Amino acid sequence: MTTAQPARDFFGSNRFKFGLFGINCGGGMTLSTAPERWTADWDEIEKVTVLADAAGIEFILPIAKWRGLGGKADMWGRSFETFSQAAALGALTKRIGIFVTAHVSLISPAFAAKAVATLDHVTRGRAGLNIVCGWNQDEFDIHGVVIDPERRYDQGLEWARIFTRMLAGGAPFDWDGEFYKLRGAVTDPLSLQRPYPPIMSAAQSGEGREFAAQVADILFTSMHGIEQAADTLQRMQAQAAAYGRSPAVYVETQMICRRTRREAEDFYYYFAEEHADAEALAYLKRQRIAGMSKSALAGTSAAERTLVARLSEPMGKSYSGIFPGMYPIVGTPDDIVAELIRLKAIGVAGSALVFLNYLRELPFFVEEVLPRMEKAGLRQRRHSAD
Ligand SMILES: Cc1cc2nc3c(=O)[nH]c(=O)nc-3n(C[C@H](O)[C@H](O)[C@H](O)COP(=O)(O)O)c2cc1C
Repeated sequence: MTTAQPARDFFGSNRFKFGLFGINCGGGMTLSTAPERWTADWDEIEKVTVLADAAGIEFILPIAKWRGLGGKADMWGRSFETFSQAAALGALTKRIGIFVTAHVSLISPAFAAKAVATLDHVTRGRAGLNIVCGWNQDEFDIHGVVIDPERRYDQGLEWARIFTRMLAGGAPFDWDGEFYKLRGAVTDPLSLQRPYPPIMSAAQSGEGREFAAQVADILFTSMHGIEQAADTLQRMQAQAAAYGRSPAVYVETQMICRRTRREAEDFYYYFAEEHADAEALAYLKRQRIAGMSKSALAGTSAAERTLVARLSEPMGKSYSGIFPGMYPIVGTPDDIVAELIRLKAIGVAGSALVFLNYLRELPFFVEEVLPRMEKAGLRQRRHSAD
């Protein structure tokens, strides 16, 4: 086995990092019809980004989406395109990392290399790339593109190899692959971050995990309990170590934080159970299953069996307004920090944060949770002059 390289560090030195996930899309990442849900109003996106930047939150992670999930709220029916949004938000901020999300079947690796390098210059070295291979054929029908569930991650791997080679610089090169045949591939400027900005992947199927093990600096794992997450995380890291890589593992968390536990639990029940968008969830599950390969559906690995089960059956402790794979953390600021300490203890390095309404809920999180994270030694205080 190859010896794993030390993990690349991104976006500062906090031991547990945070990002805002899904602010470019109507509904964010919550399957809820509650009237206070996120509407992806541009003024609000700007405000919450500036607030997150000032508070020392590490990154903004958008979702690349081309149609909604239907149901009552049509979550994601409205969404801002991630590359254009990133350049705009990059110019408004000073420290926060800004990800773009690229569907490999829609964006050529040469376009992505140039666009990500552009963003890296605009932000003075704060760009990041989330590579996604797609799962909902309906949204690719808008582009007239067919996704092959059996081969999508093979294409992703070739795409990532070309992307990283272009940003490595050097003489123009030809590429004769299965999915790409290129002549004179070259790009200038190169990214400021070397050898290239951080690459993230949230693949979950067997093929997806194998892809991510080879290319990602940050891996997302879905989570429904501490023991399961600890086990999955170890297996993901071992898989990457076989390629000499040591990515950081992050989770997605839905934050439901209030002054009292009772208030938090009532609010959770209100938006995620009483106002769950059941039709949208049913559509999402159908499309996710339709987009999986035969071997993933057969559940050749434990992770895949869990995934298929979670898409086919009711989901453990979380209400149905919580996105599959998202981990709800419900309670007072002390409860939230206690849970984040448990996550850190099993090796989780950060979390993509979701709120029903980011702008209404982030200020309380910044005021109450971040200082407690500092006391716990997981984050450092941000000084206003930093
Ligand atoms: C944090 C995170 C971000 C994601 N971003 C996107 C996205 O922007 N667009 C998209 O189509 N899929 C996105 N996905 C879905 C994943 O790319 C992937 O398709 C999904 O986790 C299922 O894994 P699989 O493709 O291996 O079956 C995201 C998933 C997670 C957990």
